[in-house]
Amino acid sequence: MVTGAASGIGFALAEAFAKEGVNIVLADVEEAALAVAESKIKAHGVDTLAVTTDVRKAESVEALLAASVAKFGRVHIVCNNAGVGGANVDPWTGPLSVLEWVIDVNFWGVMHGIRAFIPHFAANGGGYIVNTASIAGCMTGFSPIYDASKHAVVAISDSLFWSMKEAGLPIGVSCLCPGWVRTGIVDSDRNWPEELGDKPVSDPAAQSILDYGRKAISEGMTPAAVASMVLDAVQEDQFWIFPHQDFLDIAIARWDRIGERINPEPPKQLPGMPPRAQMIAELMRAMEQAAKNG
Ligand SMILES: NC(=O)c1ccc[n+]([C@@H]2O[C@H](COP(=O)([O-])OP(=O)(O)OC[C@H]3O[C@@H](n4cnc5c(N)ncnc54)[C@H](O)[C@@H]3O)[C@@H](O)[C@H]2O)c1
Repeated sequence: MVTGAASGIGFALAEAFAKEGVNIVLADVEEAALAVAESKIKAHGVDTLAVTTDVRKAESVEALLAASVAKFGRVHIVCNNAGVGGANVDPWTGPLSVLEWVIDVNFWGVMHGIRAFIPHFAANGGGYIVNTASIAGCMTGFSPIYDASKHAVVAISDSLFWSMKEAGLPIGVSCLCPGWVRTGIVDSDRNWPEELGDKPVSDPAAQSILDYGRKAISEGMTPAAVASMVLDAVQEDQFWIFPHQDFLDIAIARWDRIGERINPEPPKQLPGMPPRAQMIAELMRAMEQAAKNG
């Protein structure tokens, strides 16, 4: 079972497992894309089930478990992968709805997946959970609320791994922490939930930084390459999955600074992006221009 299976890394995970002959439950909130994804996965000759699911809601994920069991009797692997990048608003003063949305999808989505499927695994001889975090779960510098949501995913995945071992349950756990991957994440607000009100308007002054992020993602690793690393990790019971060594080095350097009790600072440059100082200068110029234009 894969959440966020209609697009990007989730679709690639579904496809990689299908190529191994594994039957697939695809779950996603974006119905039309989910239907297209299901027909592509079915073409690999495996049985499929598509379940429209909003991972923010425990009852929706419980219904996903029930539908999966009704169709296949048993689930063996759960990929809690659905996630959103958030909108380009100020985290300290911008709309609270954006912050809640990011935490609800990225953190609660994973938590609901764990809480729904662990009892099923425990009652049926075990299973495997892959949680998609991000390298943003091990460092800061992307967006504070996204970073916070992914730190939370890393923390619960880490605890889940050892608590399953301590409990003697045959339930494996992996935590996926990629850098840039070529997906639709920059346009996450296509799934902005109507119940949260109007979609927040992106801050035009920060557009230049967003454009750099979009470019870095469009030139990022393919989702298929990431999915292949996930399959290897599941086979080898490997917890940490770090597809990008350059990003991991930045995360390790942060911990080296923590060890020295040095005050926090953002990375001077993210792979695939210009130096931070250049981006800040561009941002300031854009803000001045916006102020002049009234
Ligand atoms: N693309 C990257 O550079 C990158 C890097 C690190 C981590 N990630 C993580 O990878 C995961 C997958 O994202 P992606 O990059 O493939 O982006 P994507 O936008 O291509 O795919 C995300 C999928 O999640 C679905 N989704 C969004 N909200 C949902 C909800 N409430 N319930 C169910 N499904 C929902 C979307 O419809 C979409 O199909 C996310 O957790 C993301 O944070 C992505």
